[in-house]
Amino acid sequence: MQGKNSSTVPARSGSLHVAVIAGDGIGREVTAEATGVLREVAGVELHEFPWGADHYLKTGVTIPADGYDTLRSFDAIFIGALGDPRVPDNRHARDILLGTRFELDLYVNYRPVRLLDDRLCPLKNRTRQDVDFVVFRENTEGLYVGAGGRMRPDTPDEIAIQEEINTYRGVHRIIRHAFEFANERGLRRVCMADKSNAMTHGHALWQRVFRELSPEYPQIQATHLYIDALALLLVQSPDQFEVIVTNNLFGDIITDLGAALQGGLGMAASGNIHPGRTSMFEPVHGSAPPLAGKNVANPIGAILSVALMLETLGRAEDASRIEHAVEASVRAGETTRDIGGPLGTREAGAAIVRRLT
Ligand SMILES: NC(=O)c1ccc[n+]([C@@H]2O[C@H](COP(=O)([O-])OP(=O)(O)OC[C@H]3O[C@@H](n4cnc5c(N)ncnc54)[C@H](O)[C@@H]3O)[C@@H](O)[C@H]2O)c1
Repeated sequence: MQGKNSSTVPARSGSLHVAVIAGDGIGREVTAEATGVLREVAGVELHEFPWGADHYLKTGVTIPADGYDTLRSFDAIFIGALGDPRVPDNRHARDILLGTRFELDLYVNYRPVRLLDDRLCPLKNRTRQDVDFVVFRENTEGLYVGAGGRMRPDTPDEIAIQEEINTYRGVHRIIRHAFEFANERGLRRVCMADKSNAMTHGHALWQRVFRELSPEYPQIQATHLYIDALALLLVQSPDQFEVIVTNNLFGDIITDLGAALQGGLGMAASGNIHPGRTSMFEPVHGSAPPLAGKNVANPIGAILSVALMLETLGRAEDASRIEHAVEASVRAGETTRDIGGPLGTREAGAAIVRRLT
């Protein structure tokens, strides 16, 4: 449960203040490497919070009562990963991770899918030029709001209902964000994916909003695909995509497919953003309990999430310095085993830091 014990807030100075929640399992290991990179960036102060499964099991507190307000007082938040088999209902992860997304209204889930080295792509004859797009996943509505219930639970007559919430405001702001992003970056293609042929109520709203907004961006080719067709085309011809926008569930699934195109879950970064407000950054992967404590987790998704954070906070130069260091390490093969290198988590992180300094 959310607890009453309060969390301290650091005194502010001119630097960027970043709240860090390492979390569970490999989240702690990749966070150590990501914060190691952040320590090489001038003018960033880190404040670490112990929230995660250990803390919950010890104190019964998932996140203190003033935890969301505390997080809101930082410039940005970094989270490693949450999830632990000792907490079977994952309630601490729900409060900390989903809670932060919902309470801070982080409605944009931003997931760049960029192949850093041709040899990491599982598709035949595809190169870096072919895999370079971004996915905007709606992050505060859809099937993940927990609406629904179970009747006659744990009986043969059980009925379980999970409702999908789509609001005009919620759909409008994420589709608007996708068009604005494309517009600002001079991109020419925005694809909206839904399942309006089968989910005739909720996804008719997505269709309506997309039709409403696309004429405002005549220079952008606005296309629609059903989500199943999008999954097919992401494998057959990823080069045709620049910006994809979709709902919470579909975005969750296709960004894992996107991670596979980049070389695996360990490579994928994400931002949970409310433009102009405190936002949260995290690698796409989870806590991977079987890998925890073995120094094998790939820290690149976490390190690239730190770069996304700096880019979003207006530190584009620092962000691109980190991206270049990561790319150089990948090209040199100084990586963890999941992407073919010989190194452990700590050594792969150190190889990136060395290139930064
Ligand atoms: N954002 C989050 O914190 C988040 C996201 C997904 C899952 N989870 C939680 O994490 C726990 C484990 O979930 P899961 O196994 O479905 O997903 P996972 O992402 O932890 O692992 C899936 C697969 O990817 C591999 N993998 C993941 N990250 C890697 C990395 N950095 N380097 C190398 N290989 C990596 C794992 O070995 C595993 O085979 C669950 O409790 C789940 O709820 C948390």
